[in-house]
Amino acid sequence: MCSVVGYIGQRQSCALVMEGLARLEYRGYDSSGFACVDNETRRLMSAKSAGRLSQLVTRLQEKPIDGTVGVGHTRWSTHGVASEANAHPHFDCTKKISLVHNGIIENYLTLKKELEAEGHVFLSQTDSEVIAHLFERAFEQTKSCKKAVMQLVSQLHGAYAVVIVMEEHPELLIGIRKSSPLCIGVGDGEMFIASDVLAFAGKTDRVSFLPEKTFTLVTKDKAAVYDFDGQLLDLPVEKLDSVWTATEKQGHEHYMLKEIYEQKSAIYKTVSLCQSFGESVWNSIGISADLIKNTKRIKIIGCGTSWHAGRIAEFFFEEITRIPTTAVLASEFRYRTFFPELDTLYIAISQSGETADTLEVVRMLNAHGQKVLALTNVASSTLVRESEGFLLTQAGPELAVASTKAFTTQVAALYWLAARMALERTVISDGQFKQCQEELLMTANILENGLDAYKYQIFEKLALFYSNFSAFIFLGRHSTYPFALEAALKLKEIAYVFAQAYPAGELKHGPIALIDEKTPVCLFSHPDPLIYQKLLSNAQEIKARKGHLIVFAFEGQTELQALADTCLMFPAVNSHLAVLSMTGVMQLFMYAIARARGCDIDRPRNLAKSVTVE
Ligand code: M6R
Repeated sequence: MCSVVGYIGQRQSCALVMEGLARLEYRGYDSSGFACVDNETRRLMSAKSAGRLSQLVTRLQEKPIDGTVGVGHTRWSTHGVASEANAHPHFDCTKKISLVHNGIIENYLTLKKELEAEGHVFLSQTDSEVIAHLFERAFEQTKSCKKAVMQLVSQLHGAYAVVIVMEEHPELLIGIRKSSPLCIGVGDGEMFIASDVLAFAGKTDRVSFLPEKTFTLVTKDKAAVYDFDGQLLDLPVEKLDSVWTATEKQGHEHYMLKEIYEQKSAIYKTVSLCQSFGESVWNSIGISADLIKNTKRIKIIGCGTSWHAGRIAEFFFEEITRIPTTAVLASEFRYRTFFPELDTLYIAISQSGETADTLEVVRMLNAHGQKVLALTNVASSTLVRESEGFLLTQAGPELAVASTKAFTTQVAALYWLAARMALERTVISDGQFKQCQEELLMTANILENGLDAYKYQIFEKLALFYSNFSAFIFLGRHSTYPFALEAALKLKEIAYVFAQAYPAGELKHGPIALIDEKTPVCLFSHPDPLIYQKLLSNAQEIKARKGHLIVFAFEGQTELQALADTCLMFPAVNSHLAVLSMTGVMQLFMYAIARARGCDIDRPRNLAKSVTVE
């Protein structure tokens, strides 16, 4: 979603804020802005631009402004189009208060009407601008920054991470957090405030994460943190993990490509972390061994790619652990009738750990006393803080909007967890558990070998041919059906090509009407002989209707290979891990199509990396 970055210190803020914004631009990028108390005029100055951050950079080069306190923002539009007027920072009527906001103010219309009736003039269509005018009113009434924030938050409904710079208080940055992340980078004689640590990684390795419903008054030397009742809090300063500073493309054309190639290592690291828990695994992840032994049901919650990982894991938990499992979409689950079940283990999956839909479900589950295990890539995330226990994937920073290595590490961690729970419940033996771990690592090797084996064919032949089609159908059965959903999502989000995923058995119940030469069908096979036979029949149905067939198949599946117009073959693996073995090549294929179509792969249109609004 949007990113907020603020700086206060002895250095000039513009370059530091712009660098922070550039690092977070993957989170939202349809307009941007910067404001500071200008060195020369001592007045609050700003520059804004619709479009990418590079346009703001050009504007600032043409007409520089700078000062030792500044804030910046990249926007992902919710209220109002992506225009200069709607870009942040927003101002109060006197132009002495500027602020940037990430989140949604739900009661902004009521507040706006009230403020307009009092004579406040609004210049944008955004919900965020009401915060500036409300703060103006509160500051006028209280003459105190602290009291003004307390008055402000008592009037706002919704989610917000806000950073304020005031002309009257150039010695101060104000940060406010409710349901949207905000952290403080603690330097020597300087402070950063941002929606993500990446913004200041490398500038300081000390960080404090603002807890829910708190605000901070930050000077260059100190951050005083208060709860919404004004009580001073003692906030720990943590050391930032250095892995989160390695954010370069390292010679790859896109972050997505780099991240595709990092998958083997990310899986190895994730498995190695899991193995390091040894006998104290349940203590380490914060879920009681009793719950693990007595769990009768598992419900997995997530959105997008994380939900797909959960859907694949349904098969791990049901077939290896023997526990009925359902993966649900967070945005849907929240609005269904909820039946509290104390012997259910809830697993919330989120790469970022900041996805609003997923967090709201976790909060609802917590309110009912349910146990939630978070599976996330970000140790400092809200999801970790708000869940009973957590297991961290070791993907490292994932900067491309399209999730790749986060997905594979989620699938690997869930497979490991299913096997470890099965061992705990004596469903499998120690020897079988070891074999599961070995096969998992072996599959990571297969994933990487597939990239080497197919890269030339994909880039030089397949991508050029398939980039000309305007719609695709993806089919799978059993665990390859959620994998088909993931493939279709990848193609849609990075190549802007319409793609529909179906369970192969459903084809004859309607979608078969779509089969023709113009709509390639990509079928993901399965190593299980029974499922393979069914998929083979589906492939024949497609060919009988002159469909164009792309097949991802496993060694020995020669009948399917013979039917295919394009066939990508994979070594036979443990059938649970089939999807993992095909993942790298599938992602590379979708990437190459998007590249051939000239798409902005790392920052697809209309999207944001971290979806912190509902
Ligand atoms: O951070 P999360 O895993 O919670 O994000 C969930 C989805 O927004 C995310 O997976 C999205 O679907 C990706 N862009 C897919 O590539």
